[in-house]
Amino acid sequence: MPPNPDSPAASPSVPATTTAPTVAPDTTWFTTDRFGMFIHWGLYSLAARHEWVKNREKLTDEQYQVYFDHFDPDRYDPAQWAGAARAAGMRYVVLTAKHHDGFCLWDSALTEYKVTNTPHGRDLVGPFVEACRAEGLKVGLYYSLIDWHHPSFPVDGTHPQRDDEEFRAAADRDIRDYQRYLHGQVRELLTSFGRVDYLFFDFSYADGSWWGGKGPDDWDSPKLLETIRELQPHVLVNDRTGLPGDFVTPEQYQPSGPMTEDGRPVLWEACQTLNGSWGYDRDNLDHKSADLLIRMLVDGVSKGGNLLLNVGPTGRGDLDPCTVAVLGEIGRWMDLHERSVRGCGPSPYTAPTECRYTQRGDRLYVHLFAWPLRHLHLPGLAGRVRYAQLLNDASEITQVHIDPDRPALNTEMGGQPAGTLTLQIPVQRPDTPVPVIELYLDTPDERPQG
Ligand code: GLC
Repeated sequence: MPPNPDSPAASPSVPATTTAPTVAPDTTWFTTDRFGMFIHWGLYSLAARHEWVKNREKLTDEQYQVYFDHFDPDRYDPAQWAGAARAAGMRYVVLTAKHHDGFCLWDSALTEYKVTNTPHGRDLVGPFVEACRAEGLKVGLYYSLIDWHHPSFPVDGTHPQRDDEEFRAAADRDIRDYQRYLHGQVRELLTSFGRVDYLFFDFSYADGSWWGGKGPDDWDSPKLLETIRELQPHVLVNDRTGLPGDFVTPEQYQPSGPMTEDGRPVLWEACQTLNGSWGYDRDNLDHKSADLLIRMLVDGVSKGGNLLLNVGPTGRGDLDPCTVAVLGEIGRWMDLHERSVRGCGPSPYTAPTECRYTQRGDRLYVHLFAWPLRHLHLPGLAGRVRYAQLLNDASEITQVHIDPDRPALNTEMGGQPAGTLTLQIPVQRPDTPVPVIELYLDTPDERPQG
């Protein structure tokens, strides 16, 4: 007998790793929503060739200043971003308040390197937060621990001036000074804009992946997390401060199964790009198709994870046409198939190759990544399904009885292992990127509990 899936899904009951001795925040919204939008936007959007441009091209502050001097996103309309996110089926949005270049999108009292000193002259974070709330979306902020502009951030292997001997020798950089700045800025973010639901810190590298690597001691992560819990105890924090967070963050790959830490299941969220770059990258045409992105979303949910899908608005503040188009296609799919994603998690049943199962209580969703000829064989489900339908149009899908002992004959199917449920599906694949069959499970102990 397969184990009972919890309601709304098996994974919300997974214990999250905790950050502080205080009560762990409620993660229900996160595992219910499943799908969020990441927004990488800042000075690098003007360079339009990847958000690491300052590092990659070893640009000095003076060279990079040109983007600051021309930052004037005249078409900034966060209501449009929030609307696009909601229409795509996303339920939370995470904006880069500060990225590695150190530029702040809000009117921080702790630096002059901020949007209010650019030609734009106005805070961007406040209107973003309001727009999200107006759309009923949860609010997330990204904050870079790395800072290539702050004078006290010790130069390391990630720094644009890493090879400049003179620069390195001249700099009198005390990480404790930077630490105060970072803690102060996080405090600002959590006290200036009302409720924040989610924080994405980026990132720790004390492991030697870069010389001069930095981690929890450099950021004073224990104190940072304590302050966060004090100011907004409900906020979910990622795992990149170098201490365990409320969820882990696989980046630009799909985990091969539910994620664990020290053998214990953990909540996870894959962050993914549309074209390999986070910031607007004009000449990069490595676009993922809507069909692939939907499969990535479904694949993640089938393994108990979320998808945080990135967009990189232009320097004027627009989502570019490719982004709008792909979000539109995802939205059309989500509109018809939302219930196979929202509130769903892994199923205790094992899906056949080219299928992914998600489950919520007594509903099992079969996502078909490939469309077979007329029959779909589902191991272990015979006698457990009281009704089956295509989700896109609620058209009935019938069950075919095949005697398990019968071999396959010239014109008759056979050779299926005992316990296999065979569904008869139309020859025409529904005109949607990922067709879904909704199964109503029959066994009472597979219904939602309580
Ligand atoms: C990486 C990159 C960064 C991006 C982030 C998103 O850590 O440094 O540019 O913001 O991934 O997860």
